[in-house]
Amino acid sequence: TPQADLVIVANRLPVDRVVAPDGTASWRTSPGGLVTALEPVLRANDGAWIGWPGSADDEEFEPFVEDGLSLVPVVLSAQEVEEFYEGFSNGTLWPLYHDVIAKPEFHREWWDSYVTVNQRFADRAAEVAAEGATVWVQDYQLQLVPQMLRTQRPDLRIGFYLHIPFPPAELFSQLPWRRQILEGLLGADLIGFQLPGAAANFVRLVRSRVGHKTHRDTIYLPDGRPVKATAFPISIDTAGFEALARSESVEKRAAEIREALGNPRRIFLGVDRLDYTKGIHSRLRAFGELVGDGKLDLEDAVFVQVATPSRERVEQYRILRDEIELLVGRINGDHGRIGRPAISYMHSSYPREEMAALYRAADIMVVTPFRDGMNLVAKEYVACRFEDDGALVLSEFAGAAAELRQAWLVNPYDIDGMKATLLEAFAAGEKETGRRMRAMRRTVVQHDVARWAESFLSELDGLPDHHDKSV
Ligand code: G6P
Repeated sequence: TPQADLVIVANRLPVDRVVAPDGTASWRTSPGGLVTALEPVLRANDGAWIGWPGSADDEEFEPFVEDGLSLVPVVLSAQEVEEFYEGFSNGTLWPLYHDVIAKPEFHREWWDSYVTVNQRFADRAAEVAAEGATVWVQDYQLQLVPQMLRTQRPDLRIGFYLHIPFPPAELFSQLPWRRQILEGLLGADLIGFQLPGAAANFVRLVRSRVGHKTHRDTIYLPDGRPVKATAFPISIDTAGFEALARSESVEKRAAEIREALGNPRRIFLGVDRLDYTKGIHSRLRAFGELVGDGKLDLEDAVFVQVATPSRERVEQYRILRDEIELLVGRINGDHGRIGRPAISYMHSSYPREEMAALYRAADIMVVTPFRDGMNLVAKEYVACRFEDDGALVLSEFAGAAAELRQAWLVNPYDIDGMKATLLEAFAAGEKETGRRMRAMRRTVVQHDVARWAESFLSELDGLPDHHDKSV
């Protein structure tokens, strides 16, 4: 087992193990924004990453190095995948933390499994962390790890970062295990959130539900140890994406994509994990109605929607897939012509190069979640538009809207409002799109993921040492 001075602990490893029908195993980049953001951080800091390889396994397997990254697998049994991952993480916490867009389910067996698996991650982190190391625990699947780890290893600096929204007290309080979750998180020295409002929700809850003293963004535990809870909006490797977008192969592929779509005047693009928080259905409906109303012509405009497969065994995700595919079929049936569907829909995940080519090919990027911690797809699009062209239509309910104020902002619950804004973005002139994109690019270039990680880790490092009772 490697000993590391920086240990990232996340539910998933940055790569997923995929086993082909002939039994050979290979590795593929894991889905989601967490991996997009943290992979370059691990690379730059030479640490170790503890996580689940993405499939059910009965046997432990050894730490390994993949593509220069030091990875420490934590295995989950089939039952744990069902109860901890699909159950408590994605059937209870995910909907609860996202405005109860879907109804969260509360099951005591799921909670038991959550405790067991969090303990396993904490044990692994305790083995891997060098004396005095920094351990950075990630996201809602592992909220008990900070406390569990501190009990075993009081010498460590422990940070926690929540990639998704933290709900208001009225919603969080539904959780039968709310106190345990709050106490689990309070094992950290520093707790990071996407937005200041989320950090404030957390501090308020700790005061009212646990009864600890708080002052601004700091909580004082009964033993005098302070815990800081504050916002660090996450980002992407902006330079890396831009370099990719500028490469000849990506430029060539972008031209091929435009050609394959029949060289329409404008390409609309949506890229999401297939998740009910993303508002995919609403945006496609808005686009379909615009075509139906005769406001958009298919010679002028097509929609490309990439929906990355996600959590496919969870019922709500299966239902959602059926709904979206029914809608795509209906819109294409009503309006498409031979060789010219209104919506090109792909239920698939693609490598970064292909994504960059799609961002280069698209004139209007449409990101319309009902609730989203940040949404890194919006930032990826901006990073790839190095010629300061292209329009971003962005939901007010994505964390990214706090920074990307110059996007065309929409309320995804308001279909008519979205239709009007899609048309505006469609009709906008070069000057207008250029002005907006330049401003957004300044933000994404300055606030990249290296800066995010640096500000979190230096804040964590600079906190007073609570071992030293004189502080
Ligand atoms: C979001 C979450 C991550 C998660 C990712 C993919 O970005 O914040 O924690 O890993 O979605 O979801 P999955 O369930 O496939 O890990």
